[in-house]
Amino acid sequence: MSVRVTVDGASPYDVVIGDGLMRELPQMLSGADRVAVVHTDSLAAYASGVFDTLRSSGFQVLPIVVPDAEAGKQLSVAGECWEALGAAGFTRNDAVVTVGGGAVTDLGGWVAAAWLRGVRVVHVPTTLLGMVDAAVGGKTAINTSAGKNLVGAFYPPVGVLCELAVLETLPRADYIAGLAEVVKAGFIADPVILDLIESDLAAAGTPRAPFTQEIIQRAVAVKARVVGADLTEQGLREILNYGHTLGHAIEKSENYTWRHGDAVAVGMLFAAELGRLAGSLDDVTADRHRRVIAGVGLPTSYDGVDWEHLRATMAVDKKSRGSRLRFVVLDELAVPRIMDSPPEDALIAAFSTVSGKATQ
Ligand code: GLY
Repeated sequence: MSVRVTVDGASPYDVVIGDGLMRELPQMLSGADRVAVVHTDSLAAYASGVFDTLRSSGFQVLPIVVPDAEAGKQLSVAGECWEALGAAGFTRNDAVVTVGGGAVTDLGGWVAAAWLRGVRVVHVPTTLLGMVDAAVGGKTAINTSAGKNLVGAFYPPVGVLCELAVLETLPRADYIAGLAEVVKAGFIADPVILDLIESDLAAAGTPRAPFTQEIIQRAVAVKARVVGADLTEQGLREILNYGHTLGHAIEKSENYTWRHGDAVAVGMLFAAELGRLAGSLDDVTADRHRRVIAGVGLPTSYDGVDWEHLRATMAVDKKSRGSRLRFVVLDELAVPRIMDSPPEDALIAAFSTVSGKATQ
């Protein structure tokens, strides 16, 4: 059975979660003659099923193979995609389908956003992180030498198809890393997600839990509510960055060898301690972070670069205001707020709870 979540906005769209969803694709693309399918080589077999669906519905398919992960989010790769669209005579009626994880969604979304000032894009995310985060909410981007995601646009898709069966093919560590964003949605907005995960922590770390579809649906619904109200991150959308301020600094300090979700998990533990130290977050909710995060197999500590390095990295994060640090913290379960410029001793104390190294 499939379930759907509608993302409101100027052009509402559905995120469909279930199995056998490709039958929805032709309708999402109706009116197109040509459809470019952007995917990585590693997903060629899965993408060929998408080609078959499209061809049997009469579309002309243009496969575009791009490099994996961040290597694909380059101006040169976007340029090659645009050259391919140009050579195929892509018009405003034509469309792009992305098949892959968050990097492919970001790149393919940006290619679609900029071609002829915008052609339709449908995302077919193949990772848990892609389903609950990257494919929903319209953030598209490529990197430059100055940093990640510096060029892009808010460009919502016309639909998102999350096929649960594909999660079975994901390495376990990648699935678990994706759960960090699901857990985040639980803490910032929908505690039922946490109740479900806690009902069977071992099963929660796999895509075969009896509640897998429901926690994905609920996490997507949290994101849909937030981006439906604040697509362009004028305020509310910032709450989606729970755990991300420290998480981004860890990822950057580790040259992106840490998975995003793993870094965010440590970042959420840090943020929970910051909330507790600020006197706003109760012990039960703060402690619940560690139980859920450890319980599903996410990391609970970081022992790489020292605090001073992370502190400096956070200060140049594009989401900081000047050198002031901003964190999303919880006042209570599902009540997030922004904490601006926390005291340095609180930051150090919070970090000491997630650091394998001593800080002074
Ligand atoms: N990943 C956070 C956002 O989409 O705003």
